Amino acid sequence: MFLRGGKRWAVFISGTGSNLSALLEGRSQFDIGLVVSSTPKAIGILRARRAGVPVYIMKNKSDWEGIETALAEYNIDRVFLAGFMRIVPAVFLTKWQGRILNVHPSLLPAYPGTHSIERAFADQAALGVSVHEVIEEVDGGKILLQRETKRSSDLESTEFFVHVSEHRLIREAAAKWNTVQI
Ligand code: GRF
Repeated sequence: MFLRGGKRWAVFISGTGSNLSALLEGRSQFDIGLVVSSTPKAIGILRARRAGVPVYIMKNKSDWEGIETALAEYNIDRVFLAGFMRIVPAVFLTKWQGRILNVHPSLLPAYPGTHSIERAFADQAALGVSVHEVIEEVDGGKILLQRETKRSSDLESTEFFVHVSEHRLIREAAAKWNTVQI
């Protein structure tokens, strides 16, 4: 599928791929041309295959050359990190500067890194999700979209609310940054 004037996105995953699914559901608004997985075990790979989207699986931890080749092969011009659990090297970030986004389950700059929902929940802090540009500092780039999420009395349903909110925000971000320069 090619939407005139739109960009072609690659989605980078490492696990379940529920954010990938949310993006795949938005394909009438933007084009997903490739899924990159850091591991052959990611369930998200099945979601991509079912949707007919090509998948590139990293051959090892530092297979960034392989990724670059796949991105070029599929004419990708935007990257969304969606639960991608590898550090992206500086040289890759420089090349993709302004064209690589990440979704994170907290109101950044609060609670960067892992276990963000648990930590915010334990602190009784405000909960939410953010989409931001990716820079070398983990979860540290310019915040592009952010939304507060309601909390529940237990962690499990709070996590559910945050993830649903994440799925909405990631789709909104891809649609919004599909035609404009980031
Ligand atoms: C998401 O909460 C993402 O923000 C975080 O890891 C989770 C990945 O979930 N970094 P999924 O693979 O998209 O289901």
